[in-house]
Amino acid sequence: MRASPLAVAGVALASAAQAQVVQFDIEKRHAPRLSRRDGTIDGTLSNQRVQGGYFINVQVGSPGQNITLQLDTGSSDVWVPSSTAAICTQVSERNPGCQFGSFNPDDSDTFDEVGQGLFDITYVDGSSSKGDYFQDNFQINGVTVKNLTMGLGLSSSIPNGLIGVGYMNDEASVSTTRSTYPNLPIVLQQQKLINSVAFSLWLNDLDASTGSILFGGIDTEKYHGDLTSIDIISPNGGKTFTEFAVNLYSVQATSPSGTDTLSTSEDTLIAVLDSGTTLTYLPQDMAEEAWNEVGAEYSNELGLAVVPCSVGNTNGFFSFTFAGTDGPTINVTLSELVLDLFSGGPAPRFSSGPNKGQSICEFGIQNGTGSPFLLGDTFLRSAFVVYDLVNNQIAIAPTNFNSTRTNVVAFASSGAPIPSATAAPNQSRTGHSSSTHSGLSAASGFHDGDDENAGSLTSVFSGPGMAVVGMTICYTLLGSAIFGIGWL
Ligand SMILES: *[C@@H]1O[C@H](CO)[C@@H](O)[C@H](O)[C@H]1NC(C)=O
Ligand SMILES: *[C@@H]1O[C@H](CO)[C@@H](O)[C@H](O)[C@H]1NC(C)=O
Ligand SMILES: *[C@@H]1O[C@H](CO)[C@@H](O)[C@H](O)[C@H]1NC(C)=O
Ligand SMILES: *[C@@H]1O[C@H](CO)[C@@H](O)[C@H](O)[C@H]1NC(C)=O
Ligand SMILES: *[C@@H]1O[C@H](CO)[C@@H](O)[C@H](O)[C@H]1NC(C)=O
Ligand SMILES: *[C@@H]1O[C@H](CO)[C@@H](O)[C@H](O)[C@H]1NC(C)=O
Repeated sequence: MRASPLAVAGVALASAAQAQVVQFDIEKRHAPRLSRRDGTIDGTLSNQRVQGGYFINVQVGSPGQNITLQLDTGSSDVWVPSSTAAICTQVSERNPGCQFGSFNPDDSDTFDEVGQGLFDITYVDGSSSKGDYFQDNFQINGVTVKNLTMGLGLSSSIPNGLIGVGYMNDEASVSTTRSTYPNLPIVLQQQKLINSVAFSLWLNDLDASTGSILFGGIDTEKYHGDLTSIDIISPNGGKTFTEFAVNLYSVQATSPSGTDTLSTSEDTLIAVLDSGTTLTYLPQDMAEEAWNEVGAEYSNELGLAVVPCSVGNTNGFFSFTFAGTDGPTINVTLSELVLDLFSGGPAPRFSSGPNKGQSICEFGIQNGTGSPFLLGDTFLRSAFVVYDLVNNQIAIAPTNFNSTRTNVVAFASSGAPIPSATAAPNQSRTGHSSSTHSGLSAASGFHDGDDENAGSLTSVFSGPGMAVVGMTICYTLLGSAIFGIGWL
């Protein structure tokens, strides 16, 4: 992804990643269980609640080497850290090393290097991984994908690899070789493990430790109501698709005291559905309205909007409507939008301003730098989303939180329509609801008192907690590739 609201230096990211690993609670992670059935492949994702990110266990090579990788709809390469990379070998007090696993090519009988020096990816936060492309076996709990092309991170600022499941045109090889290769979703279909190049993602509740990704099908037990499909939008309206970008038609705030449509001066709001981004990034004006609604304040110190944690208990929600007035709507409750700043120990408190004394949480809606904007995990958890890379559509419905039942329906064939989905009527690729903005009628339902004029938060964070907080935040943007192609 291009939009980078927080420009974080590579060095800072490395420490962030280390902090992430340090705070990692192994016990809380459920061992991923994946199984293949009826032309679909099902994976369990574990939710790193604070640091952000959904991780999945795989085996690479023969015999298989266990590695845990972050799932990312915002990039398109699978890559693993090399066991010889400095970030894995130079373990110290500050660098716990590659605790998610690393890959040693010498220990694999089926390893085949196919592009020396040609793997080179940089994510929006400035973190990067460089090395070779190789082909080898890739296993997701018993399902073996043969000869998958992957990146080998020989020099990396990130201690864990990623599974990018986006469009081929977004592969890192485009920048080094100007060519693409069949990536994981495509190879799964080519090797007849799934019928169509498509997958659905169910991230589940903020408090739940696991969600799931299902390649090649949908699970009708994981959402409420009906699946509605809308068109993915290509850069400049062309035939080349690069990202899961959609028209975000309107955003509304609702509380017991009323409903407001948030306004923006952007002509069209293009937003990318990106599981590799923890938070949601909207235009400056729209984000500021959202902050005013809930009493959030921008902290210059942290570089992000924070909110009293108590707001997470209020009875309100934000509604996101896509592709026109008659398009699908997802309601996201405040409990999904107020996140702990770090795990373990008490939350930091506001030391000044109108919220003085209250615990500080991260707000799930932040301000982005420009189009396309990003709908990250704080939005995605409230939706069941199907990504169809053949028909260039996504289908979406409100999630069924904590569902334990399952009813998997596979795509019938390559290019078949998304099962059970109905196309949204009257879709528009441009424009958004005209704002009928008249004050903040919902605001008083979200919080007590008047803090539309919250003032600045200076020196809110003092003491040793600060470093930890900063590091946690740096990590939240990991996992979105940058490629410069113009938008509408
Ligand atoms: C977000 O808003 C704050 C406060 O207005 C501003 O200081 C900051 O630069 C903005 N961030 C981005 C990425 O635009
Ligand atoms: C890989 O992980 C599985 C279960 O997660 C475990 O049973 C197996 O022993 C591990 N293999 C290695 C080589 O660590
Ligand atoms: C892997 O696939 C490539 C084509 O992408 C082919 O050239 C190569 O021979 C294959 N290797 C093996 C071991 O199957
Ligand atoms: C889902 O389960 C988690 C963990 O058990 C719980 O904290 C949460 O409240 C549940 N969410 C819903 C919507 O029931
Ligand atoms: C969102 O909330 C509004 C107001 O409660 C409700 O009318 C609407 O049906 C909800 N939409 C979805 C998709 O849940
Ligand atoms: C929107 O779509 C519905 C159903 O397809 C149709 O009946 C209606 O006339 C359309 N409305 C507009 C404004 O195009």
